[in-house]
Amino acid sequence: MISRRRLLVGGAGIAAAGLGVRAWQQGLLGGDQPALAAWDDWASQRQLGALRLVGGGVLAASPHNTQPWAFAVGRLGVDIFEVPQRSLGTMDPFGRERLAGLGAAIHNMALASTALGRAARVRLLPDPDNPGHVARVVLGPDGSGPAPHPLLPFIARRHTHRGPWRGGPIADAVLARVLAFPAFPGVRVALFAAGSARGQRFAALTSEATAAIAGDAAMMADSHRWFRHDFQLAQSRMDGLTLATSGTPPLMAIAGALLPDQTPESEGRFWLAATRETHLPTASLFGLILTPQPHDRRSALLVGSAWQRLHLNATAAGLVAQPLNQIPEMIDREAQLGRPARFARAADALLDDPAWRPSFCFRLGRADEPAGASLRRPVSAVLGPPARLAWEVDQWRAAGGAF
Ligand SMILES: Cc1cc2nc3c(=O)[nH]c(=O)nc-3n(C[C@H](O)[C@H](O)[C@H](O)COP(=O)(O)O)c2cc1C
Repeated sequence: MISRRRLLVGGAGIAAAGLGVRAWQQGLLGGDQPALAAWDDWASQRQLGALRLVGGGVLAASPHNTQPWAFAVGRLGVDIFEVPQRSLGTMDPFGRERLAGLGAAIHNMALASTALGRAARVRLLPDPDNPGHVARVVLGPDGSGPAPHPLLPFIARRHTHRGPWRGGPIADAVLARVLAFPAFPGVRVALFAAGSARGQRFAALTSEATAAIAGDAAMMADSHRWFRHDFQLAQSRMDGLTLATSGTPPLMAIAGALLPDQTPESEGRFWLAATRETHLPTASLFGLILTPQPHDRRSALLVGSAWQRLHLNATAAGLVAQPLNQIPEMIDREAQLGRPARFARAADALLDDPAWRPSFCFRLGRADEPAGASLRRPVSAVLGPPARLAWEVDQWRAAGGAF
């Protein structure tokens, strides 16, 4: 007869083996992470020529890491296209945040062009017949460009940080570095201390907006579609959000990875608690990116470019950053549902001039630990067929070329 002790030991062994299999399935025992290779591709300069622009572009920020882009590369430059199917649904009902993600990619590409030694000219929305063609970066001849931009190494070091920070003030000289960039037409940035009266109003309204989103089943379902709990899914899709970049301490993230996926409701509860207990109280500064017409496509692109630049500058200055876009997301959601514009009106209390509307909100500060890299589709996965042959032919003709 099998003794009770042997049964217990046997049961524990099976449980441990089960846990081991789960840990292996969830990638916790080491091994390759192809969905992180794009960061190293950029840092190791694996792409050559115009492909280097795409290599920098794919590392940009995008809402929920949707990466709503496709690129076409030609000898004379790169075209960038919006992929509307990579959508956040009710979280971004007008595609405003999607365009901001594209603007972020365009800015990285403009910076990346300086690595080629070729002058670059960015044309936003170059094709009136195709609004999804969001930009064209036209490259000049070899040797025509400026020196490599000092922010190039920071393209692969910029990561959204959702963990606890140190709080406390940031010196004005450091802030001046964060804000040192050429103006983006029709875009302004406002920064204010977290403890100031405006900072407190921002925190209260962001907290309220987070609760409203967490209580909106459609928004949470659309958000949850971009959460990649399963390691294999994360590695094959190479997009979306993961526990590893959620700001959860590493040991808890490992424990969480062993458990089944969250529901949209539990994701909402976690997010609300993290916003109220970690994101808002440990920030040094809050900020707004403002524009008179947030839904104008060009403005939305430029807001995203400004965010990318600001986050790169902050990284270079030793600061960490996290977007906190619950207020503009609720402004759009109320407009979509035709409800009274409660959040738009409440946001007026954060603005010097109510004609400049908040299109992007964020926190800035210092942290003890760096943030981890998020998933990315590599260059090979985002090149759209066909390359813009017609464009090259036009350029060739315009330059007086003959066939
Ligand atoms: C338009 C836009 C809105 C965003 N909103 C939020 C947000 O509200 N909260 C947040 O934690 N991250 C937000 N992000 C950051 C993205 O989730 C992040 O860029 C993406 O997951 C990729 O990660 P990375 O920035 O570390 O490369 C936003 C990014 C963009 C471009």
